[in-house]
Amino acid sequence: MSPVSRRWIYVAIVYFCLAVSLGVFMGTSGDHRLMSVHAHLNLLGWVTLTLVGIIYHYFPKAAASRLASLQFWLHNLTLPVMMVALTLVITGTPQAGPVLGGAAMVMLLAVLLFAGNVFWRRA
Ligand code: HEM
Ligand code: HEM
Repeated sequence: MSPVSRRWIYVAIVYFCLAVSLGVFMGTSGDHRLMSVHAHLNLLGWVTLTLVGIIYHYFPKAAASRLASLQFWLHNLTLPVMMVALTLVITGTPQAGPVLGGAAMVMLLAVLLFAGNVFWRRA
């Protein structure tokens, strides 16, 4: 497996540990307010990063491009900001709403970069 795919999968595993820890906290405390943080840490973190890592394995040209690197940093710098902002909004700090919205837009950009990169460099 290429270093690019490995990098996505290593970070995915970190999100997996964080998301499952939060799941266990929610389950044991009975406080499910952060369900959406848990769900998106799992799905935008663990699941998405693992899938991107596996997909880049099968699209080595796309994986080697600078777009892939840009996508990696956009996704992984944005997701923590998005999750902290979501936590703040859920726990009663609505002022974090615009940060959450901005982070969601950047995340969408990272997803579109991924889509474009794989379609344009699929050979
Ligand atoms: C030990 C592992 C896990 C524990 C203890 C756990 C615990 C929980 C709890 C307590 C909730 C809130 C349920 C509710 O309030 O209705 C929840 C929701 C959720 N979890 Fe987990 N979880 C675990 C692993 C995972 C994994 C691995 C994924 C995905 C890959 C996942 C995805 C979700 C999703 C999507 C929801 C939201 C479900 C909905 O919309 O009703 N969880 N989890
Ligand atoms: C920029 C990316 C994303 C944004 C802005 C976003 C936004 C949202 C919003 C606003 C909700 C409703 C939350 C609520 O009613 O409290 C939601 C729920 C959900 N989303 Fe996402 N989402 C994103 C990515 C994803 C991805 C990639 C997946 C799956 C691979 C996913 C799976 C889910 C699931 C399972 C739920 C229901 C559980 C929950 O309420 O947290 N989302 N999302």
